[in-house]
Amino acid sequence: MKRNTIATLTAMKERGEKISQLTAYDYTTARLVDAAGINTVLVGDSLGMTMQGYEDTLPVTMEEMIVYGRSVGRACKDAFVILDMPFMSYQTSVEQAVENAGRLVKECRANAVKLEGGKAVCPQIAAITACGIPVCAHVGMTPQSVNSFGGFKVQGRGEDAARRVLEDALAVEQAGAFMVVLECVPPKLAALITRKTRMITIGIGAGAGCDGQVLVYQDLLGMSGEFVPKFVKRFAEIGAEMQSAFCTYDTEVKAGSFPAVEQTYAKSDCSDEFLARLDADY
Ligand code: KIV
Repeated sequence: MKRNTIATLTAMKERGEKISQLTAYDYTTARLVDAAGINTVLVGDSLGMTMQGYEDTLPVTMEEMIVYGRSVGRACKDAFVILDMPFMSYQTSVEQAVENAGRLVKECRANAVKLEGGKAVCPQIAAITACGIPVCAHVGMTPQSVNSFGGFKVQGRGEDAARRVLEDALAVEQAGAFMVVLECVPPKLAALITRKTRMITIGIGAGAGCDGQVLVYQDLLGMSGEFVPKFVKRFAEIGAEMQSAFCTYDTEVKAGSFPAVEQTYAKSDCSDEFLARLDADY
């Protein structure tokens, strides 16, 4: 498969071909996602919840993003790799945003960075893109603002809110973003934004009218527990499979049936005579 770049992804939008995006946070998973032909891999700060067990994304640090991001960067051969800028790594100043975006590219080999927000973060988007770093914006439900929203809620409901989401999307395009994630936005509004912009729109909970879709891989694989957001489709039940395999392993270890002969290096053993002498010597 051909390596995905801004040029190939933009050409896909122009041809009306849908673009796939999936999160990954580690080498093993990213390798599988890349081999599956997914166009773009997002090392999302959702890793705070999926990999670290926090209740939201706010505690994630730059150092943690770099550890996860590096592993994914090493795994992806064809997929376009986007790294999230974690909470408070870009909000304080334009200089802070540029410095941290640069670290994600230099230390993880990210192809682009993603940051949340509309008009408020346009100076940061303009400065980062001016350094030659592509920016994916993120509007609608932006999880880093969970405390302002009072929960993970659909945004852009009602006329004023819809206008705000559209204006945010147009503003980030003007600032230089090449892609925008539309999260938890009503589908007709998301489709309107997709028509109005040259940016690639990636939806999550934003209907089928976006240029592409993203999901958190643990949600898609049925690994993320009981609560399933409305926008998630579980394409497999790997969580149940894993748990069942762990149970079988536990049972076999406790029964002494694992490891069996096939899993031992019996041919490398010393002779019984030698082992008897060894036994006697100690
Ligand atoms: O952090 C993340 O994984 C994201 C996606 C859900 C869009 O921002």
